[in-house]
Amino acid sequence: MTSTLIDKIDRKKAVVGVVGLGYVGLPLLLCFVEKGFHVLGIDIDEKKTEALAKGQSYIKHIPVTRVAKAASSGLLQTTTDFSRAKDCDAILIAVPTPLNKNREPDMSFIVLTCEAIAPYVRADQLIVLESTTYPGTTVEVMVPILEKNGLKVDKDFFVAFSPEREDPSRTDYTTETIPKVVGSTSPAGLAAAEKVYQQIVVRTVPVSSTQAAEATKLVENTFRAVNIALMNELKMTFMKMGIDIWEVIEAAKTKPFGYMPFYPGPGLGGHCIPIDPFYLTWKAREYGVSTRFIELAGEVNASMPDFVVQRVMEVLNECGKPLKGAKVLLLGLAYKANVDDDRESPSYHLMEKLEAKGAVVSYNDPYIPTIRPSREFAKYAGRKSVPITAGYDVILISTAHDEYKGMDFSSFKAQVIDTRHAAQGSSGTVHQA
Ligand SMILES: NC(=O)c1ccc[n+]([C@@H]2O[C@H](COP(=O)([O-])OP(=O)(O)OC[C@H]3O[C@@H](n4cnc5c(N)ncnc54)[C@H](O)[C@@H]3O)[C@@H](O)[C@H]2O)c1
Repeated sequence: MTSTLIDKIDRKKAVVGVVGLGYVGLPLLLCFVEKGFHVLGIDIDEKKTEALAKGQSYIKHIPVTRVAKAASSGLLQTTTDFSRAKDCDAILIAVPTPLNKNREPDMSFIVLTCEAIAPYVRADQLIVLESTTYPGTTVEVMVPILEKNGLKVDKDFFVAFSPEREDPSRTDYTTETIPKVVGSTSPAGLAAAEKVYQQIVVRTVPVSSTQAAEATKLVENTFRAVNIALMNELKMTFMKMGIDIWEVIEAAKTKPFGYMPFYPGPGLGGHCIPIDPFYLTWKAREYGVSTRFIELAGEVNASMPDFVVQRVMEVLNECGKPLKGAKVLLLGLAYKANVDDDRESPSYHLMEKLEAKGAVVSYNDPYIPTIRPSREFAKYAGRKSVPITAGYDVILISTAHDEYKGMDFSSFKAQVIDTRHAAQGSSGTVHQA
């Protein structure tokens, strides 16, 4: 059965569909086009499908030249019409998986996508979920919806789960050079999914089930969340002792084995690390297990913005100034360096907490000239990045954009407070937070 699909892939005749054209879906789509496949990009957001058709990039670190080349290749089509799913031999789904307001998995994007595709599922098709999710999602959520039109998984069509490991803006590893973990519900499904990904990545890593593939991603991100929390705790401890955590990490990472560096910061951000571990926590409850490490890491990481605000108050206090009425310039809104992604960014928590105490907060971020509307921080939509000038009481570095590294703040007369170790080398006093 899958031999038809595998044969089509070998002859580069397979059409690859990518559903969800965001930070994950767009690079994936470009990789398949660049390898000579016909690709159909599907999204509910017409602005994205139209921009791609015109060769425009809407993600800052994805070069417009790359998108323009794909658009003019004759291999790329984009649409908001899900009936076109029937034209695809393989469909890769990369839609959001946030937490709802009760901090439980929000499966609505996956459910809506599967419901939209279900009427068009056809024999010999492969459907792969890439969105980060709890173990069991592919089999318990995706398959029952896809089988609604009567076709059966592993008899008529195939499913797989392959976690996305994209790290936006990273240059040492790209989509192509990061090995791709793949799990399916049958050997035939696994063979088909591996064949698809082998077209664009150096190596596929087969695992025995979709659940193992789903769990792999959660292990990776939980590992990060827990280790970042540990560094945050150690930072606060060492600060009391007059020890610089950054110097210690630099020294510790010279050990060639048994250690890998993680770094403290103003709190967690992004679409992955603050969220994914709680998918596991939620699922573990079904088995009567409580994930105490994950909860503790979440607590420590979520407390970091309060710690930073406390540091701002201490630094101002040393200069005889209250936080109330102080002018604070926040450097960096993005959750990490050199990207335009501000989802879950701790900078918003800092902004809100500082303003609640009466500070007058402005921000600078070369990647985010205007704040886009968001569910959690709707009140900040439309606020604009300001230039870095004199006249502030505090300059608070919350994102280590390259633009801020080694910047000379001495002429600004502000207290510089650095949560990212970005201002080392700059003249003048820099306070850690
Ligand atoms: N951003 C990352 O660095 C990263 C890394 C690894 C894994 N992930 C995971 O990948 C998944 C996607 O994340 P992202 O960062 O690309 O999200 P994103 O918000 O950048 O993109 C998601 C896209 O899906 C579209 N969409 C929403 N509902 C849809 C629907 N019903 N049908 C079709 N399209 C729909 C949106 O319009 C958007 O274009 C998530 O599960 C995330 O956890 C993200």
